[in-house]
Amino acid sequence: MQDLSHCDLLLRHARLATMAGPRPYGLIDDGALAVRGGQILWVGGDDERPPELVAANERDCGSRLVTPGLIDCHTHLVWGGDRLDEFEQRLSGVPYAEIARRGGGINSTVEATRRASFDELLAGARGRLEGLLREGVTRVEIKSGYGLEMDTEKRMLEVARRLGEELPVSVHTSFLGAHAVPPELAGDGDAYLERVIAETLPAVAAAGLADAVDGFLEHIAFSPEQIERLFRAAADLGLPVKLHAEQLSNQGGAALAARFGALSADHLEYLDEAGVASMAAAGTVAVLLPGAFFFLRESQRPPVAELRRRGVAIALATDLNPGSSPLHSLLAAASLGTVLFHLTPEEALAGITRHAAAALGVAHQAGTLEVGKSADLALWDCSKPAALVANLGANPCVGRYLAGEWHPGRERPA
Ligand code: NIG
Ligand code: FE
Repeated sequence: MQDLSHCDLLLRHARLATMAGPRPYGLIDDGALAVRGGQILWVGGDDERPPELVAANERDCGSRLVTPGLIDCHTHLVWGGDRLDEFEQRLSGVPYAEIARRGGGINSTVEATRRASFDELLAGARGRLEGLLREGVTRVEIKSGYGLEMDTEKRMLEVARRLGEELPVSVHTSFLGAHAVPPELAGDGDAYLERVIAETLPAVAAAGLADAVDGFLEHIAFSPEQIERLFRAAADLGLPVKLHAEQLSNQGGAALAARFGALSADHLEYLDEAGVASMAAAGTVAVLLPGAFFFLRESQRPPVAELRRRGVAIALATDLNPGSSPLHSLLAAASLGTVLFHLTPEEALAGITRHAAAALGVAHQAGTLEVGKSADLALWDCSKPAALVANLGANPCVGRYLAGEWHPGRERPA
């Protein structure tokens, strides 16, 4: 029998959406949850609490909802400059791919990011990340990819690591050197990719700056052959891979990612049945990004019914970036996931908790309220989990626990 005495924290009378088990949302109506050493020690019905379960720090949640801390598994939240002019161009009908072909898009942010100092990038990114944290996020992925040369790619990842040290949030970094071909090598993607593989990626890996390697497989970015070379180099360095795939066209990217055992394939509007089957076989998570779909006014939806049928885990993320998805809210991403992509509210909430943890390779330690996982929790001023998804722009987050430590929401000390 496990020793349940001496827990650090005991939450009582919480509506626990554990996101685990057979019940919808894994819901426990009147629940209790005990924490020791930053981990969940016990979870169950309040009236089933073992009598020895007592804590100096006990909180009566007053029937309020507690969920796993939210996880944003796909962001580009470190950047310089802005793309407001492109927002207006797109609204007047110029397509995203056309703006990219004219040298704008990702490369316009590259120019501004190269010019930005570490402190400037940190200040901008910190504000954006704090906004996510106020909404219950306890874990976030942050990509490079707006440097496209050694110094700036490293600076972006150093900023991401620093954010994880200075703010109460777990940060995962992804090296996205293969995001676009930089202006100085326009038209020579092979030469750029060679540089990434021979110089940037090994340096970033040696400095411990990347937890994973990402790429953009698309007609405006890199080809399947090029991404395959990148993934081989990542595998040689022992780094997991993920991919921006099938966003604007079907290039077989998801199947390629699955072949390399990718953690996730992301976007996926143009994914076909064969791609879904490959992902299912490899256990690759589908990360859907309704913010990019919304802001780019796309009409082709990812094949949600087929993903469901094949049992592919579906995550949702903000894709927070200055161009295709200036979406600063993970709850809004979940909302858009229901209305635009036809996910159920429960699927949407699983998409920003359990399945987002899987997309980051940390399903064993985060994403659900289960014994042994990190005590990363969000406390909400509502009682029904669907309320988190059904209201756009509301922020009912009272505060978060990260590894059992309380962090009140800024405007709602509780
Ligand atoms: O995930 N698809 C490629 N990359 C980003 C876009 C970044 C940008 O437009 O700056 C995305 O949507
Ligand atoms: Fe992205």
